[in-house]
Amino acid sequence: MRELFCLQTDHTTYLVGVSDAGFVEQLYYGAKIETPLDPGTLREKHAAPYPMMVYDREAPLLGQDDLCLEYSASGRGDFRECALELETQWGSRTADLRYRSHFWLPEKPALPGLPSSYGSEQNLVITLADEALDVTVELHYSVFPSCDVITRHALLKNGQKTSLKLHRMYSAQLDLAETGDTFVTFDGGWAVERTKHEKPLSPGIYVNDSKTGTSSARHNPFVILARPHCTEDQGDCFGLNLVYSGSHAEAAEETTLGKTRLLTGLNPAGFCWNLAKGASFCTPEAVLCFSDGGFNGLSARLHPFVRSHIVRGHWRDRERPMLVNNWEGTFFDFDEEKLLNIAREGADLGLELFVLDDGWFGRRDDDRTSLGDWTVDRRKLPHGLKYLAEQVNALGLLFGLWFEPEMVSEESELYRAHPDWALKCPERLPAQGRTQLVLDLTRAEVRDYIVKSVSQVLESANIQYVKWDMNRHLSDVSSAALPPEQQGEVLHRYVLGLYEIYERLTDRFPQVLFEGCSSGGNRFDLGILCYMPQIWASDNTDALCRMEIQEGTSYAYPQSTMGAHVSATAFHTAGRFTLWETRFNVAAFGCLGYELDLTKLTPEEKACLKRQVDWYRAHRKTLQFGQLYRLPAPKNQMAWCSVAQDKKAAVAGFFQKSMRPTLTHDTLTLRGLDGETAYVLRSRPQLQEAPEREEASQALEEYYRARGDQLNLAGIRLAQQSSATGWNENMRAMGDLSSRLYTLEAE
Ligand code: GLA
Repeated sequence: MRELFCLQTDHTTYLVGVSDAGFVEQLYYGAKIETPLDPGTLREKHAAPYPMMVYDREAPLLGQDDLCLEYSASGRGDFRECALELETQWGSRTADLRYRSHFWLPEKPALPGLPSSYGSEQNLVITLADEALDVTVELHYSVFPSCDVITRHALLKNGQKTSLKLHRMYSAQLDLAETGDTFVTFDGGWAVERTKHEKPLSPGIYVNDSKTGTSSARHNPFVILARPHCTEDQGDCFGLNLVYSGSHAEAAEETTLGKTRLLTGLNPAGFCWNLAKGASFCTPEAVLCFSDGGFNGLSARLHPFVRSHIVRGHWRDRERPMLVNNWEGTFFDFDEEKLLNIAREGADLGLELFVLDDGWFGRRDDDRTSLGDWTVDRRKLPHGLKYLAEQVNALGLLFGLWFEPEMVSEESELYRAHPDWALKCPERLPAQGRTQLVLDLTRAEVRDYIVKSVSQVLESANIQYVKWDMNRHLSDVSSAALPPEQQGEVLHRYVLGLYEIYERLTDRFPQVLFEGCSSGGNRFDLGILCYMPQIWASDNTDALCRMEIQEGTSYAYPQSTMGAHVSATAFHTAGRFTLWETRFNVAAFGCLGYELDLTKLTPEEKACLKRQVDWYRAHRKTLQFGQLYRLPAPKNQMAWCSVAQDKKAAVAGFFQKSMRPTLTHDTLTLRGLDGETAYVLRSRPQLQEAPEREEASQALEEYYRARGDQLNLAGIRLAQQSSATGWNENMRAMGDLSSRLYTLEAE
């Protein structure tokens, strides 16, 4: 072995070796071990070729197809999915990457044009070279010891020999010398985002990807490779995420030679990047994490990473304001008075931010017009935004505004002036989505227009929050500003353009709280979180659906990144009645908001919501910035807890999806508490009925004392649930879709 690189985090080790033939090989990734006495003991022994092996004449016993390679190119005998596929000016698609050199950097370099993590403690660069092509690929590794995270990206530098076309270039490749794992993905669509699915791998390839131009609700870029018998609390698993907001792919390939390859990065579909002589290309950053404590262990490493090394700026560690948003209350049908009435009610409830959603600009009475015309609609708001913001501020609330700047309506002044600013192919009319077109962010003049028009609005009034929406997939991916040979660059250039816009706006308005949104949670990813500390998790605010969505989201993303609102029942996508208290109890595990016409509440409902708001304020820090654990629960229930960073406090949520008449004894088992500390548990005082019902009564108040070790391992038996056969005031009355919250405080 020529070189050994040992990347150590607090609890994991990542070992890479360079073989005598110059292959850069993955030797070990898992729970922490010391530097091996003899690294050669970690290498597979190659004493004879395998059948059908393709090999290099200098190393006749090594076939690339059966090595664990850190990064491989197609064409020289690795017949798996490869990280790199390039085309030379002669049309050949073969490359052979071998170790050339390495160096350590004191600081993690910025990725040109791309957002990335910050605050790493070690940075290694291993340079691979294809000498015949005069091409190098730098593999960058950054180590975040306390979060047990290693990030990777690759930078290809073309020399002077040939121009290149890149057909694929993934961010990271992880080859493991085992099979039999399960690939866990988070899939869905509008209103059903990030639902967890587990696929046992077998020989072949499974690809989790998005081709929509966004990271998408269909398949989040976060994936887990779980070793056999991995559960929430036990077992080994690898988490992979991507700091990117566009089309992506994560491939898991199991080979018949007994290896598993993971790839993550830009989706090769439709991708073709031209590199002149001397030019370079940088991939987005991939995030790798290993846990030997199951999925909860993985989340407990990834959440602090996201909170402290992805999210940044003024709002990073600040408690997020409780908001009221008018969208579901009014849709497009509002005027100044209606809005101010809602804001007034919000202020009475103790909310802190009023958000004016879609419909305030151009002549937008429905979703068919005006995107691109970011000037206030004086028909609805005769005194303008400044006045409205002042009125809202006078009520003691911050003022926030909705935008969808990446889009243009055909029915708009912007489109009439610049029809070529939309993505479209020269040969046909572009397809529509929500009657709108996508602006061509590859064009500098379009980016300038967006920055200028959004800035003008933000400067025109006291706006402290922006909801940045994006409501359609990209189609007709073609730019009038680029030559034919560069059309394969448009999807990625769109995302680079978007990041440039974010960079300029967040630089200019550092105190504004930006919340990402894309038809709900269609773009919930680490790229967005580098600019926007929180993202609207889903348009679906039905409590039952939200339990699944927020739980799925929680595997990779902490609660402080998740916008979660209480809306009027029955929520329009689910049509299901759920109790106010349950809607709140679920939304409490995110950045809380209310999204309804507050003027329509009965006095009883108002009193109920006010108690919720007061309670959330008191426990907000634990709820938003505590460590979330998914707790053991039978199928008809779900439970979470969020443990404060100092472990002196926690909040647990106990959710019952459907009632089982004979199952009346529930155990609440927690996680993450300090074993030695004694805690007092109290149920949040709440109603067990809808507040407007006359018989609405307070739920049984429960009180318990227990030490952390008991709570973590044995749990506590809660008061008996009411059943079909009996009910009295010493029981927990819980039907379908009912829930309780419990606070824990160290004595
Ligand atoms: C999207 C968002 C919603 C709302 C509407 C407005 O659907 O996800 O929250 O802002 O757009 O048109």
